Amino acid sequence: MTSLVAVTGATGRVGGRVARRLATAGVAQRLVVRDAARAPALQGAEVAVAAYSDTDAVRRALEGVATVLMVSASESRDRVAEHLSFVEGARLAGVEHVVYTSFCGAGPYATFTLARDHGATEERIISSGMAFTLLRDNFYSDVMPDFVGADGVIRGPAGEGRVALLAIGDVVDAAVTILRDPSLHRDTAYPLTGPDALSFRDVARALTQETGRKVTYVDESVEEAYASRASYGAPDWQVDAWVSTYTAIANGELAEVTPTVRDLTGHAPRDLRTVLRSLTSAM
Ligand SMILES: NC(=O)c1ccc[n+]([C@@H]2O[C@H](COP(=O)([O-])OP(=O)(O)OC[C@H]3O[C@@H](n4cnc5c(N)ncnc54)[C@H](OP(=O)(O)O)[C@@H]3O)[C@@H](O)[C@H]2O)c1
Repeated sequence: MTSLVAVTGATGRVGGRVARRLATAGVAQRLVVRDAARAPALQGAEVAVAAYSDTDAVRRALEGVATVLMVSASESRDRVAEHLSFVEGARLAGVEHVVYTSFCGAGPYATFTLARDHGATEERIISSGMAFTLLRDNFYSDVMPDFVGADGVIRGPAGEGRVALLAIGDVVDAAVTILRDPSLHRDTAYPLTGPDALSFRDVARALTQETGRKVTYVDESVEEAYASRASYGAPDWQVDAWVSTYTAIANGELAEVTPTVRDLTGHAPRDLRTVLRSLTSAM
């Protein structure tokens, strides 16, 4: 039986780091990318080209693959359709096991609108007949600097809600653990979080101390949040996603701290300050 692993999103942060780690560990893998010229050159890795929306290309790219890491696609209006197309391609290719980067609390009633999209994707993976492992990621610590406006303010209707921010490095460590022995993780959902639940005041304080730039948090009403984002001219689904990032935190849906990173990887999850320091030192 084949043990070939496929890694999608290999030109991106999560998939790229997972692929490098698997290459170092000598795991046979195929990188599934949209543009072969941008695939990382890794020892022992094959490259196949497929966009998620092209079911037939996905089927061809995944032929002979036992387990695929399906990194969720970039945010777009069509993301769920792209995901469903990818899952169908994997099923047609005879893939045995899908490892999917989902989201904390994924499902139709999640406040964060994109978590509903992840829920729809999870449902299709589960009903496909393939084995599955769902990495239900909290928000990434690594993207917190992107939440700060040009004026040094994080604005949003999160109130005093808390969020158990997760380091991308810990997603990578968890995914590598699973891909190295997928049979131990069949038909399981793992809620992945960082070590503590932080309010946006805590996040602003950590950003100020670790980056040297003064950052503050302003709690907006939902109406203020839509008004302050109106000038970007973004489509409604995108603005809904931005605002519901904060309301989901206000509602307490992202606050639970789980022991899963430690259970899977054997090490403590990285905290926000550690992640911010590594981002600063990489600059
Ligand atoms: N939990 C969170 O806080 C959080 C934050 C940010 C992102 N995310 C999610 O996590 C995913 C991975 O994060 P990341 O930091 O690794 O993102 P990233 O660096 O933007 O990489 C995304 C990767 O997915 C590929 N991709 C995107 N859409 C695709 C499609 N329709 N078909 C085929 N490949 C596609 C991209 O390929 P190209 O190079 O061809 O574009 C890229 O390799 C994101 O895509 C997003 O869904 C979660």
